[in-house]
Amino acid sequence: MDNEQPIIELRGVTKAFGRQLVLDEIDLKVARGRNTVIIGRSGTGKSVLLKHIVGLLRPQRGEVFYEGQRIDNLGERALVPIRRQIGFVFQLNALFDSKTVIENVAFPMTENSTVRLDRRQIHDLARKCLSMVGLAEFEHKRPAELSGGEKKRVALARAIALDPPPKVILYDEPTAGLDPQRSDVINKLIRQLQEQVHVTSIVVTHDMKTAAEVGDQVLMLWNGRFIADGTSKELLNTKEPHVRRFVEGLAEPGDILTLTA
Ligand SMILES: Nc1ncnc2c1ncn2[C@@H]1O[C@H](COP(=O)(O)OP(=O)(O)O)[C@@H](O)[C@H]1O
Ligand SMILES: [Mg+2]
Repeated sequence: MDNEQPIIELRGVTKAFGRQLVLDEIDLKVARGRNTVIIGRSGTGKSVLLKHIVGLLRPQRGEVFYEGQRIDNLGERALVPIRRQIGFVFQLNALFDSKTVIENVAFPMTENSTVRLDRRQIHDLARKCLSMVGLAEFEHKRPAELSGGEKKRVALARAIALDPPPKVILYDEPTAGLDPQRSDVINKLIRQLQEQVHVTSIVVTHDMKTAAEVGDQVLMLWNGRFIADGTSKELLNTKEPHVRRFVEGLAEPGDILTLTA
């Protein structure tokens, strides 16, 4: 298992915006069929990291590989067949308000000229994916009529509604803003996709519960680097001070400003 080629690999990925260094020589190997969780506080570069995996952002230095193929230097056209294999659940869902739920789920397939399904097959697959997330009855609603958790589930259905099914799903904060029970539904769906569809998942989150429930491997991003890498159990028992504070939900010493001089 260990010497199997990782499905995704980052080597020395460095990304800065102006003078702000966000990713500082990041190395990451994503094991096939496993759930890799990346935790870290807001603004540490978790979303930036995910975007490098689908070529939405390019590193200044370093390399990104998908199935052994270098992809960070590919043009938009060459990225299309790779993006077809990767589902992306965006942080803000990115649903179209003017479209119905089922149209949203079907949209990537209708837009993708390489999909060989006809309209009816696309809708059948979209409906199947909606059933998987428990939203079969909602297909004619619009996003504005849904709760936060329902919108997340629509975004998830859309990420998996590919033919063939995606090999990788990237989840950006899949449980943010959801109550604990709705979060649990999403966590279970992530596990279910791993078990039933054998998908490889990368889950970015600041939710320790999600990390513990879905993560086979958990890494913590801090100041552009990974300062922890292990099982969720190992992370919960770590002595590394930044990781400890994150796990316990405690502020960093520098976070608290005093109001009096
Ligand atoms: N396209 C961009 N242009 C400039 N700065 C960006 C861009 N995308 C992200 N950043 C900055 O990079 C940092 C990390 O962002 P992000 O990856 O979104 O954090 P998070 O860990 O919360 O997902 C933030 O300070 C953000 O402002
Ligand atoms: Mg983010």
